Amino acid sequence: MDIEKSLVLIKPDAVERHVTGKIIDLYESNGLRVIALKMVRVNEELARVHYAEHDGKVFFDELLKYITRSPLVAMILEGQGAIEKVRKINGNTNPEMAEYGTIRKKFGVNKTENSVHASDCRESAQKEINLWFPEFEQ
Ligand code: CMP
Repeated sequence: MDIEKSLVLIKPDAVERHVTGKIIDLYESNGLRVIALKMVRVNEELARVHYAEHDGKVFFDELLKYITRSPLVAMILEGQGAIEKVRKINGNTNPEMAEYGTIRKKFGVNKTENSVHASDCRESAQKEINLWFPEFEQ
C-alpha cells in the first residue's frame, strides 16, 4: 500500500469538549503520523471553499455556522493507505450509524457535529492540504 496523506479536521464540537488529545491518540495508535498541525478559527470564506460541494444542500448554512463558531484543529496525517485508514477510524458521517470504536461513535453529537472531517480521496486530500496548509510543500 502506498504512503498517503490525508487532511483531517478535529471540529469545533470536539475541541470544545476537550477531546482533541484522545482523538489524535486514536490516529497515532493506528500507525498514522502527524506531519503538520495547527489550531485555527475558520472564517466563512475558508469554510465556503472547503465545503463548496455541499453549497445549496439543506444543511449548508448550519454547517457553516458550526464550523466557524469556535477553533478547530487542522492536521495532515501520513501513513500507508492513510486516506481509507482515517475514514475507517472516523466512522460513518452520522454518529448513530457509526461502528463501535470509531471516533464519530465515541464523540460525535449528530450528523453536523460529528467531531472530525477527513479527505475522501487522493484528489481531495491534495486540494484540502493546499487549502489548509498552503505553506506545506507537497
Ligand atoms: P464532513 O466529513 O466534514 O463533510 C461534510 C459535513 O457536512 C459532514 O462532515 C457533516 O458535518 C455535515 N453533514 C453531512 N451530511 C449532513 C446531513 N445530512 N445533515 C447535517 N449535516 C450533515
